[in-house]
Amino acid sequence: MKKILLEMLICPRCLPEENLLKETIFHGLRDQIIEGTLECRRCNSVYPIDRGVAFLDPNGSDVSMKPNRYETPPLLSSYLWSHYGDLLEDEHATDAYLRWAEVMKSGSGLCIDTGSAVGRFSFEMAKKFDFVVGIDNSVSFIRASRDLSINRQASLALQEEGTLKRHETLIFPEAWRTDNTEFIVGDAQVLPFRSGIFSALSSLNIVDKVSKPMVHLGEINRVARTKDVQFLFSDPFSWSTEVAPVEEWLGGKHNGRFSGMGKDNIIALLEGKIGAFSPAWKVDDEGHIWWKIRTHRNHFELIRSCFIKASR
Ligand SMILES: C[S@@+](CC[C@H](N)C(=O)[O-])C[C@H]1O[C@@H](n2cnc3c(N)ncnc32)[C@H](O)[C@@H]1O
Repeated sequence: MKKILLEMLICPRCLPEENLLKETIFHGLRDQIIEGTLECRRCNSVYPIDRGVAFLDPNGSDVSMKPNRYETPPLLSSYLWSHYGDLLEDEHATDAYLRWAEVMKSGSGLCIDTGSAVGRFSFEMAKKFDFVVGIDNSVSFIRASRDLSINRQASLALQEEGTLKRHETLIFPEAWRTDNTEFIVGDAQVLPFRSGIFSALSSLNIVDKVSKPMVHLGEINRVARTKDVQFLFSDPFSWSTEVAPVEEWLGGKHNGRFSGMGKDNIIALLEGKIGAFSPAWKVDDEGHIWWKIRTHRNHFELIRSCFIKASR
């Protein structure tokens, strides 16, 4: 973990209190902590840094993380294909990440990509902002992103058919910046960051994957600057009771505060018409982007992800 993060991090367990973390470095290398701990002197939580990755998910994700659905090798290669298929010159590759990136204006300051998966949007934002943090609760996704930021290449075993696999190597173009990125394990519903520090924020295809979508958006609002800030939200609104009870959904139901379509409700939230997002955001753009995930050579998932670009 790059030491530059130390001044941004707080204890996620103590939220809404914001308590800084004290580092202990067992092994450092230049600007990085490779092995060490981050400790909250208030609640005594100790968060490990293992092989360069900081584990700041208070829900017990640690070095021997329990497996979740995003931890399996086939899903890792599916996401690597989805994020970097264009670098493999795959004719079926999605241009979704370039389309999302185009919506963000270049700026200065810090950017956070919540639910960053294997990092493509984070690396796109590294071209536009001073420093980018990707955060995800999948250990294998975060390790893959961090390895990419260091090695600038990765091998992947793409499922072809049955047990057959095709081995590919993806290589980052020389022009891509990776020195101004960091990837940490954490929960997008309790972001381990001080309030008001980010100039750019994203929540791409994650709001329907968290157990408390409103808490996730509240956290985005908390860590965002109060002015000169951009937020890119996108989601297919695949609400599911396997992820969150209906009461927590921000759309896709008949009754309650969030009845109707998720996109309309999130626009109303951002504009301060429902809930308490303050200062209110202004919606600059909205639309949809086709995004694709590959399962095997004859099976793809095509997803219409509805985006909202807001600023304040
Ligand atoms: C559908 S994927 C989208 C990934 C990426 N944003 C993209 O658009 O390609 C959802 C991502 O959210 C992550 N995720 C799910 N719940 C999370 C949580 N509570 N905190 C952080 N990340 C989470 C998953 O590990 C996964 O990488």
